[in-house]
Amino acid sequence: MDARGDSPQNPITQALLAWYRSHARTLPWRAPPGAPRMEAYRIWLSEVMLQQTTVAAVIPYFETFTRRWTSVEALAAAPEEDVMAAWAGLGYYSRARRLVECARVVAGLGAFPQDEAGLRALPGLGAYTAAAVASIAFGQRAVVVDGNVERVVSRLFAIDTPLPTAKTLIRDGADSLTPDDHPGDFAQAMMDLGATICTPRSPKCLICPVAEWCEARAEGKAEAYPVKPPKVAKPARIGTVFWITREGPQGAEVWLVRREGKGLLGGMRALPEDGWTARLDGSRQPPFAAAWRDLGAVTHVFTHFSLTMTVQGATAPTPPEGPGEWWPLARIDEAGLPTVFARAAARAMAGLELEFP
Ligand code: ADE
Repeated sequence: MDARGDSPQNPITQALLAWYRSHARTLPWRAPPGAPRMEAYRIWLSEVMLQQTTVAAVIPYFETFTRRWTSVEALAAAPEEDVMAAWAGLGYYSRARRLVECARVVAGLGAFPQDEAGLRALPGLGAYTAAAVASIAFGQRAVVVDGNVERVVSRLFAIDTPLPTAKTLIRDGADSLTPDDHPGDFAQAMMDLGATICTPRSPKCLICPVAEWCEARAEGKAEAYPVKPPKVAKPARIGTVFWITREGPQGAEVWLVRREGKGLLGGMRALPEDGWTARLDGSRQPPFAAAWRDLGAVTHVFTHFSLTMTVQGATAPTPPEGPGEWWPLARIDEAGLPTVFARAAARAMAGLELEFP
């Protein structure tokens, strides 16, 4: 049977909505099925945080943000550096800068636009986020496609075209299932199904509420979908990070800089480094001549490259050239360092402990 057709009557849609009513995950940005919708601020914030990040990683950040900035107006009034620092550890830091930019636009407008096109025009809202906020916050029918939905739809309809070419077919499949009523519950049902049952490996087809319509399952090869393009190896980069310390008035301090511009980790506090980028190894040149000591190395995998970064340490009575600040070692956890630098800091401190126990 071809299950595509008018969405409200679609049996897949009905089965999914029924399943969601009894199985929806309880999440801090989510109203239970049937309850009044959460305010757009919380939905928008959660959806931006959830881009490329797991639910488990997002929950503590979402709770911290919503306690500290209780409305979009409060977030709009926050200094960008505070938001960037609070975002530290979540990754993809351009999202944090866009978050503040978007909050300011919304505060200027007086409220979030309520339709997909208006939302799409806001800074940082791509097709996915605009559709998710339109449907979940405002009950508008919008076709929401994230990685989970992609997997569910490509399996239901056994779409054997490889990604990313398959995206249009997948969107059409999702469109054919999206109902006029409760589109937000439907979108979240698809996400929950993808996260808990229709998982990338070992999908739990035996307890899947839509298994009877799933073409991939009928073929006995649910795991084969979505069909991925051939893997391209990530380039491996080498860099150096400099751990520059001094004995300050209140104890040991380390020299931190703020990264420039909008590029990789732009706007974030960081340790000085030797100029590595996604395309280039670092120069290995320290910022000044000193008795540099090797304190170990850390490897960090970014989206488009992996980086092995050697940590070099030296003491410096005067600050290196250029803007920066001496930061107390005892409060390094509060500097808002992105994960790659936080790990380098941890390595430097562990390395020094070995040397001077
Ligand atoms: N992933 C992205 N958005 C989500 C949501 N609203 N619920 C669950 N998982 C999600």
